[in-house]
Amino acid sequence: MAESSWRSRSTREVKDLCRKYTFTNYRSQGGWDPRAVIVGGEGAWMFDAEGKRILDFSAQYMCVNAGHNHPKIVQAICDQANAHCYVDPRYATHPRAELGRLLDEVTPENIVKFVICLSGSDANDHAHQIARQYTGRNKFITTYRSFHGSSTSTSILTGESRRWSMEPGISGVVHVPAPYCYRCDFGLKPETCNMRCAHYMEQVIAYEGAQNVAAIMVEGVIGANGILLPHREDYLTTIREICDRNGILMIVDEVMSGFGRTGTWFAVDHWKVQPDIITMAKGLTGSQLPLGAVGVSQKIADFFDTNTLWSGGTFTNHPVACAAAIAAINVYREDGLIENSRIQGEHIAGRLQEMQRKHPCIGDLRGKGLFQFVELVKNRETRESFSKDNGATNDTGKIGSLDKIFSERGINIKYHPLGFFITPPLCISREDVDFALDTIDEVLTDVVDTWTDQ
Ligand SMILES: Cc1ncc(COP(=O)(O)O)c(C=O)c1O
Repeated sequence: MAESSWRSRSTREVKDLCRKYTFTNYRSQGGWDPRAVIVGGEGAWMFDAEGKRILDFSAQYMCVNAGHNHPKIVQAICDQANAHCYVDPRYATHPRAELGRLLDEVTPENIVKFVICLSGSDANDHAHQIARQYTGRNKFITTYRSFHGSSTSTSILTGESRRWSMEPGISGVVHVPAPYCYRCDFGLKPETCNMRCAHYMEQVIAYEGAQNVAAIMVEGVIGANGILLPHREDYLTTIREICDRNGILMIVDEVMSGFGRTGTWFAVDHWKVQPDIITMAKGLTGSQLPLGAVGVSQKIADFFDTNTLWSGGTFTNHPVACAAAIAAINVYREDGLIENSRIQGEHIAGRLQEMQRKHPCIGDLRGKGLFQFVELVKNRETRESFSKDNGATNDTGKIGSLDKIFSERGINIKYHPLGFFITPPLCISREDVDFALDTIDEVLTDVVDTWTDQ
């Protein structure tokens, strides 16, 4: 079939062929109705095949950080594809050289060398392998309500229910409570908790034997499980101290929270925490092409000068994807997108607080920059959730219907059993933010407030 004819299929034909020949993510496949056939986009907006404009208030999977089809990133991809598309990792290339140099500039000061790989899962797989090889140990401590990827090892590092289908998987992973202050697993309040969830990790290290534990691995800010930004400032700093005291590595997964999402390059920058290993993907290229990376400290880099790095792949350091990442990092700087994330984030947080006074369905608000979450409840006094297990599984209750309701009103919003995310592209304008927040306000009044007891 000539290109012009496959591009001219009707919306119905395209949806039917996608359903018939391809699988989609994390759901039973029957009954999947693709929302739309997307044919273009610009900035925070996407366009479907019927000519409808959709405001992207989730940046898809919280990843289109520079906006849809940023012209400088698209141009960089085309330029590198025209020059040379692929060479294996034994060769040096200009894009690989420049991306390494730029990553050194934007990551925390102690991070000096990078594995440039394929995706967030791949980056966390590499981090897992590097930590095992460097320490010679195989135990890892991660949190419940975390997501670290879909591969065999990263789904076991994951704390939430997407882990279950791959169990028992790799051995040695121990999960501990997440810093979910609104529903603290220890029943404590942030004002008086003395950072129990972080200190509990030290007790677990003792039970497991510090000499057996390779690393504590945490997200910069827990993302996919409802943006669990701790209500205290000393969570990551406490974990850093525990790792140092016990001689184990600290791995921070910044796949979702990195590249300006929280208003700084990486979430760890808010607390000046220097992890031994940091992982990234999504915003690395603004998701215009798939790419992941793992950054390591000098002591780990030095170790692999004289020890084999037992990992790699055909597509590591892919020149076209590296060129996209260079352009994305330059766009974040030149377009002031990290500053915009901070500024719009403050505006959004202010408006959400006003909405909370008016809407009984808003239980908790949390986030930084353009990484915000609205937790919805049936009853604000009792904190009863719409999800029957407080978001521990993928039981969404009524909240699952919000997707369609928002989409009928022209905005793309990603929901979770506990509520919904506000994570637009970092280039979003104040006008578009206000349009989306006005729509949210209407939907909360027309729909979600009517589901509450109040
Ligand atoms: C924190 C975190 N780590 C890892 C991943 C996996 O990344 P990928 O989907 O690129 O494999 C995700 C994906 O959402 C994530 O949010």
